[in-house]
Amino acid sequence: MSSILVTRRLPSTVLSKLEPLGTVDLFAGDGAMPQEELRARIAGKDAVVSMLTEQIDKSVLDAGDRLKVVANVAVGFNNIDVAYARQRGVTVTNTPDVLTESVADFTWALILAITRRLSEGERVIRRNAWKGWAFDYMLGTELRGKQLGLVGLGRIGRAVAARAKAFGMTVAYTSRHTQMPGAEAQPLDRLLVTSDVISLHVPLSPETRHLIDKLAFTRMKRSAYLINTSRGPVVDEEALAWALGERLIAGAALDVYENEPIVNPKLLAFENILLVPHLGSGTTETRTAMADLAVRNVVEVLSGRPPLTPVA
Ligand code: GLV
Ligand code: GLV
Repeated sequence: MSSILVTRRLPSTVLSKLEPLGTVDLFAGDGAMPQEELRARIAGKDAVVSMLTEQIDKSVLDAGDRLKVVANVAVGFNNIDVAYARQRGVTVTNTPDVLTESVADFTWALILAITRRLSEGERVIRRNAWKGWAFDYMLGTELRGKQLGLVGLGRIGRAVAARAKAFGMTVAYTSRHTQMPGAEAQPLDRLLVTSDVISLHVPLSPETRHLIDKLAFTRMKRSAYLINTSRGPVVDEEALAWALGERLIAGAALDVYENEPIVNPKLLAFENILLVPHLGSGTTETRTAMADLAVRNVVEVLSGRPPLTPVA
């Protein structure tokens, strides 16, 4: 019989798929599992179903003396020391594909919301400060005829690109590996200079940490918008606050932050930044599909079969 740690409550229809394997130890808290508790409860477990908030570092992997698989309920896996897991013979899986369309839709929600000033306008109404319709009041920016610059062209980047046509935008992207017909590959430095909306779709790695720094902001058009639905540390938040203060860009929309759930207080001072709490994949349908895929990965590995979606 196997023993499985699940770090957050999941839909019961999904959890029930683990029951035939053995016992399930479910962490009942709402937030991230404290590191100490994670180390204590992973001991003796064959598998862990983890969230992106759990830091599966060396100490946790060492504590998991029987561990065979870490099934992360996320497409990103920067919260896991994958190299060390591999060294210990522990399989790591993620949940690609099932969240692609949901995150792409959400990215467009942010693009539309920031360029048409939705949250700024709503704040005015909630402050009871709206004076009525006016011809030149709170004007936004049109997307038609503008360039969408995608930093990263994985599944999500491509799904975001696929929606650009509906809004009349041309697409440029940075990718050394993939090509996309009808869109222009550009080196990052050039894409930053030529794009009107820049959207980030790279995984977090040592190479992408602070990819968008002070220098990057100085390259952008003053009329450009930055959108981040990838991982917070891809953007240097201090540099972003500086760029907004210097009016080097027109605005930004963030779903992810360097130090979640803490948001750099300097960012809160600006009206032209839209801040939402890491909701990119957050629909009932998609979160259920993500949990289900993670659980099916555990079932496969503990049944001696290859995982469905191992990380690269
Ligand atoms: C969400 O942020 C994910 O990586 O799935
Ligand atoms: C990112 O991980 C993607 O699938 O685009």
